[in-house]
Amino acid sequence: MAVVPDRYAGKVVYITGAASGMGRATAIRLAAEGAQVFGVDVNADGLADTAAAIDSAGGTFASRVTDVSRRDDVHAAIDETVATYGRLDVAGAIAGIARSEHVGSVTQDQWDLMMGVNVGGCFWTAQAAIPHLLQSEGNLILFASNAGFMGQAYTVPYCASKGAVVNLTRALAMEFIKQPIRINAIAPGGVETPMTSNFDMPDDLDFSLMANYVGMRGMARADDLANVFAFLGSDEASNVHGAIWSVDGGLTAA
Ligand SMILES: NC(=O)c1ccc[n+]([C@@H]2O[C@H](COP(=O)([O-])OP(=O)(O)OC[C@H]3O[C@@H](n4cnc5c(N)ncnc54)[C@H](O)[C@@H]3O)[C@@H](O)[C@H]2O)c1
Repeated sequence: MAVVPDRYAGKVVYITGAASGMGRATAIRLAAEGAQVFGVDVNADGLADTAAAIDSAGGTFASRVTDVSRRDDVHAAIDETVATYGRLDVAGAIAGIARSEHVGSVTQDQWDLMMGVNVGGCFWTAQAAIPHLLQSEGNLILFASNAGFMGQAYTVPYCASKGAVVNLTRALAMEFIKQPIRINAIAPGGVETPMTSNFDMPDDLDFSLMANYVGMRGMARADDLANVFAFLGSDEASNVHGAIWSVDGGLTAA
């Protein structure tokens, strides 16, 4: 899909996970459509690469190294976004982590990290962003996954975290249903990003349990998801609230 010029003119967009994959693609896409983008991530080098890509295209991007699992860090990042640009119109909680492992080998730290980043990262973003989004009559987009709908072997904590994001979205949508804000989620299927290309799996898996987690149409590109985000976050999607949009090539249709 072609960039829609000026669709985001005058809009301020906050993106987590902006150093890589879909977060970076979304930051670049929205900047190309006129947004003033504030990107956060734990990866400072990746943020610098995103900044260089947006700068060279003439877009507007500022960033802050932020751990989305930390409440204070997220509130400070949202505060800095509003201090930098004066408002907040769209917040996208895209940062996430994934692991493959046997249930029995999950440690306390691994469980806490998975929940802290994938669920906490969405919750703290919502908590910090919503007061500003109510002022701007803006919207919040959380990143779930097909793993929030399907039971997938060998990624049990990841599936649990994404299932939580699905219902976090719905619960937030109901709490704010009488107020001028939209809250939705995007649930990708398999997407070609560093998360999938660097995905390590234990050697001793039963691969017959893992058939078809990618689906018959194969992997999406990060830009496919940036396209959907750009539409969902725009005023064109003004009646979409409390929705979980699958963008998975039909993976969860069966
Ligand atoms: N790639 C896929 O196939 C796929 C499928 C479904 C859902 N998703 C979800 O989409 C989102 C983006 O995934 P991606 O494929 O672009 O991954 P990615 O690994 O390319 O990017 C994720 C980014 O999140 C950042 N991050 C990790 N922990 C963080 C933390 N504590 N604080 C701040 N930033 C942190 C990473 O540094 C990285 O830049 C994730 O929520 C992921 O679970 C991905």
